[in-house]
Amino acid sequence: MTENGRIKVAIIDDSADTVKNIKTLLEFHEKTIHVVGTAYGGKEGVKLCQKLKPDIVLMDVNMPDMDGLTATNLLTSTLPDIGVIIMSVQAENEYLKRAMFAGAREYLIKPFSADELVSAVTRTFEAQNKRKHNIKQVDQVIQTRVITVFSTKGGVGKTTIATNLAVAIARNTRKRVCLLDLDLQFGDVAVMMNLLVKNTIYDLVKDINSLDSDLVNDYLTIHFSGVHVLPAPVKPEYAEFIDSRHVEKVLNLLSGNFHYVIIDVPAAFQDIVFAALDNSERILVVSTLDLPTIKNVKVGLNIMENLKYKEKINIVLNKANEQYGVNHSEFEQTVGYPIWESIPEDSSTVVTSANKGIPFVMSRVDTKVARSVFRIAERLHNNDESPSVEKRPIWKVFQF
Ligand SMILES: Nc1ncnc2c1ncn2[C@@H]1O[C@H](COP(=O)(O)OP(=O)(O)O)[C@@H](O)[C@H]1O
Ligand SMILES: [Mg+2]
Repeated sequence: MTENGRIKVAIIDDSADTVKNIKTLLEFHEKTIHVVGTAYGGKEGVKLCQKLKPDIVLMDVNMPDMDGLTATNLLTSTLPDIGVIIMSVQAENEYLKRAMFAGAREYLIKPFSADELVSAVTRTFEAQNKRKHNIKQVDQVIQTRVITVFSTKGGVGKTTIATNLAVAIARNTRKRVCLLDLDLQFGDVAVMMNLLVKNTIYDLVKDINSLDSDLVNDYLTIHFSGVHVLPAPVKPEYAEFIDSRHVEKVLNLLSGNFHYVIIDVPAAFQDIVFAALDNSERILVVSTLDLPTIKNVKVGLNIMENLKYKEKINIVLNKANEQYGVNHSEFEQTVGYPIWESIPEDSSTVVTSANKGIPFVMSRVDTKVARSVFRIAERLHNNDESPSVEKRPIWKVFQF
């Protein structure tokens, strides 16, 4: 980075005279260029650059302890932001090629004029800056996948699944994950994750017209898993200030910033829920195996079909043990959908984790419940990988 807008330059040459001359030439341009350090050998030079992180390095080729090309190679592979300019008495193409292969950006043939030197430094600096900027821009074009965890019945495990799923994706993919609590009246994501909340969706919505996708980050609370959380309002009565247009805007602000936005919603067909469902690529519909829930979920699925959500729906059966009289195939026949994934009942793991505020996908990774959530995360994630994308074994389970 520049210091007071000046370009930070390091000089590496085994001839003390050359170093001194170059330094003097550059000092005539001290408003724009600042010589931050000098070294008299490749090894010493690399160490110096690792410490000072200059913008530009002027590098001699023939030096006793480590030659300039080896040093350039080392520097450009470890500190890609540094622009290396090779200085050499060799004018042949072969040398120039070797320098470029080592990662040098420019090649100055000794002896060079003050003008040549200064313009090489500024040109290289500008080119490096542009490159950095471009890389950043490419980085910022993130395809956001929105997934809502929904049910027509409360208490089926939506929040449990949404929180653990968000953490599982963040831990195992290293992608940026945002968890949005749209259960505006009784949202409990923040409690389940033991978060110290500063801002909620209510604060964000208050300021929404003056926000851009950078500023929105200030309203999110970061869980120690890396998941960014936008919690529900602290008071139920604040819910009435938030409508579906706000939800759309919030999702717009988050998209491009996160690879995944996981949404937890209340068990109701409200406008804000429709806003979430409309904007979701996947809807995980959660059910349990008791008859009142099955009946409600069936009605809910019919409504969702009429609203053309069918293609997005995946049924997740939670607390899926069959011992209470309804088995999985009866369930599938009744609701008319296949079970996409099922999560077993395990109160000791789930309730203990919720009470401690640590998602079980972090603290109890070897349990069946945790494994099923990891499997859901993996299946969701793999969907966006085209067959040509290299499959990395990212699904190692993290142990704490
Ligand atoms: N697989 C499970 N095994 C045992 N208990 C569970 C499981 N999933 C959720 N629970 C418990 O069920 C209750 C309701 O879960 P919650 O996630 O708050 O549901 P919802 O958000 O749908 O209302 C909580 O006490 C939770 O700990
Ligand atoms: Mg809930």
